[in-house]
Amino acid sequence: MNTPPFAQLSWSEDGQPFSTRFDDVYFSRESGLAETRHVFLQHNDLSRRWRALPPGTRFCIGETGFGTGLNFLCAWQLWDELAPADARLHFVSCEKYPLRREDLQRALALWTELTPWADQLLAQYSDLAPGWQHFNLADGRVTLTLLIGDVLDTLPQLDARVDAWFLDGFAPARNPDMWQPALYAQLARLSAPSATLATFTSVGEVRRGLQAVGFEMRKVKGYGRKREMLCGTLAGAGAGAADWSAPWLARPESPAGERSALIVGAGLAGCATALALARRGWQVTLIERHDRAAAEASGNTQGILYCKLSAHQTPLSRYVQASYAFGLRLLHQILPQGQDSWQACGVLQLCTDDRERQRQLALAEQGYPESFLCAVDADQASTLAGVAVNRPGLFFPGAGWVHPPSLCRAMLQHGNIRLLTHSEAMSLQHRDGEWQALDEKGGSLARASVAVICSANDSQRFAQTAELPLKPIRGQVTQLPATSSSKTLKTVLCAEGYISPARHDEHHVGASFRFDRLDTEPSSEENHSNLQLIGQLSPELAGHLQLETLDADRLPARSALRCTSPDYLPLIGPVVDAQAFRERYAELAKDASRQPTAPAPWYPGLYINAGHGSRGMISCPLSGELIAAWLNDEPLPLPADVVAAVHPTRFMLRRLIRGR
Ligand SMILES: Cc1cc2nc3c(=O)[nH]c(=O)nc-3n(C[C@H](O)[C@H](O)[C@H](O)COP(=O)(O)OP(=O)(O)OC[C@H]3O[C@@H](n4cnc5c(N)ncnc54)[C@H](O)[C@@H]3O)c2cc1C
Ligand SMILES: C[S@@+](CC[C@H](N)C(=O)[O-])C[C@H]1O[C@@H](n2cnc3c(N)ncnc32)[C@H](O)[C@@H]1O
Repeated sequence: MNTPPFAQLSWSEDGQPFSTRFDDVYFSRESGLAETRHVFLQHNDLSRRWRALPPGTRFCIGETGFGTGLNFLCAWQLWDELAPADARLHFVSCEKYPLRREDLQRALALWTELTPWADQLLAQYSDLAPGWQHFNLADGRVTLTLLIGDVLDTLPQLDARVDAWFLDGFAPARNPDMWQPALYAQLARLSAPSATLATFTSVGEVRRGLQAVGFEMRKVKGYGRKREMLCGTLAGAGAGAADWSAPWLARPESPAGERSALIVGAGLAGCATALALARRGWQVTLIERHDRAAAEASGNTQGILYCKLSAHQTPLSRYVQASYAFGLRLLHQILPQGQDSWQACGVLQLCTDDRERQRQLALAEQGYPESFLCAVDADQASTLAGVAVNRPGLFFPGAGWVHPPSLCRAMLQHGNIRLLTHSEAMSLQHRDGEWQALDEKGGSLARASVAVICSANDSQRFAQTAELPLKPIRGQVTQLPATSSSKTLKTVLCAEGYISPARHDEHHVGASFRFDRLDTEPSSEENHSNLQLIGQLSPELAGHLQLETLDADRLPARSALRCTSPDYLPLIGPVVDAQAFRERYAELAKDASRQPTAPAPWYPGLYINAGHGSRGMISCPLSGELIAAWLNDEPLPLPADVVAAVHPTRFMLRRLIRGR
């Protein structure tokens, strides 16, 4: 198996980490803390800039080399001291070799004055899997996005507007691969006007490289015994990598005026969107036709955190992985574990055939930390499960089951969210710079500067999103009484279906897929087919449950509709006027290689978050953060190709290109 690409460290007698891979120190031996403050904070002029920040604004720092997180924590500490209470700090940092959690903890123990901030980071930091890792800290006042991978691969995928750069990353002589013109071009591309930059090095090649892309550079006194270091400011627009970028993937302008949002639909997607916006100071009205949140697809009793990944690292797989990791952090943050709420009991994905086993083994070879996933044989799987299973599989120790209504309720606890129940939106209207949700009599249910449609299949009822190709698929989950021996089941078992450990003396087994029915009346056929799944998962468990004594026709069950898209990816992002889109980019129907530049015909401030299929428990949490990042001009928490893969305009574009 490939070893996860973690930092390789040795520790000095006074407890300082040293990179054996790069043969270099993480920070100055004299005082890392003082060095960080001198080099990165002072020479980006952060104290002055943050004191002068207008209320409610955002500030973005970009960093090469997260390392121990010392720079991040020092910046966060200063931010707490100086920035307005409602301003938000976004810290994006690239890291090719993240520290293991225990190493990070050991390194950060050096700085007792940073303990209050370090503890918050450590509460969410685990051995990181590859990919992008998004952290929401201090109730949204600070976000951290770690781009795990080589900076030369990850930065080109970033969509951000950086105000200050911390150019760290070991000495150029020790790490020449990183200090490249391609890196400097990305720094210029991603910089806000007049962005600043500071670095500990004073190497001439670095200075000239940064000048070549538009930074005005100065040599100043370095920290401690270092004679010199560099700092600079971007002059003009910079001369960074300025590739053509599809206008339908560009950021729509955020609506001016008050930060209010109406969201239609209080399932997992709507609640995640509401929380992400509320944490950023938006006043949110969530409109729901039922008497409570989570009454449709999100209303199951035990939803499974089933993180199905592809060894080919497809956009779907990378989206799922990033959202799964963020979702686990969110769960630990806002929902205490318990029989009512959720349990990180682990999920065993048992293989169904040889091909599936090959897929699983290929995945396990990809350098994931064991705390994220590991391959297990049938014996190991049986020990983990507490019942005999006769197949090998993949084990996800951090996953488990969730009671989605509890998660939705927890997400709605935020004081900026108002849930409007018994309210069905029949249409959405944009008038005088505001969105209004109208009921069947044309009365206004709510108005706000931004609207987000989170109505699953019913999203098609709104004229603005009627053309999006959403498709319902019915499913049913069956409830089974636990027996004293079935309670030995310790983890969730998944293969063609799933069964969860007992919650309040009941297991849940599911889920059927039916294309021929769109009602939500439970059926006995689906109970029968669900029960058959158990024998495939574990014959021993099927015996424990005494299935032969149960009357499948009478077992309690719940049916609901999933909402899927043709490519099984969700639809998350801004909405264009479909007719205007076709007209504006008609040239693509004749020649798909054209690169039009006309701005996309956005509906001002209209977004959609739907199509989470059979994995909403996993895919909803990050969807809210993505919408909030679009709306707040924040760094997007996902690579550009993944953002494009979930972008709602993809279907219109495909149709246009295919000439339909
Ligand atoms: C049987 C079954 C089993 C599943 N098991 C799992 C699982 O184990 N793991 C997993 O990850 N996922 C699972 N899923 C998928 C998961 O439940 C969904 O992906 C997720 O719940 C979708 O959330 P949502 O918010 O998009 O949709 P929904 O939960 O359907 O929410 C949409 C909300 O919008 C409201 N609404 C719609 N139109 C309007 C309107 N016009 N006005 C007001 N309100 C409106 C609806 O009432 C509803 O509350 C399962 C789904 C089903 C059906
Ligand atoms: C000196 S340390 C950074 C110290 C860090 N800023 C801190 O606060 O602890 C340099 C970091 O850059 C990372 N790094 C080196 N080359 C890289 C590359 N090409 N892409 C991404 N990260 C890289 C290293 O793994 C290391 O963690």
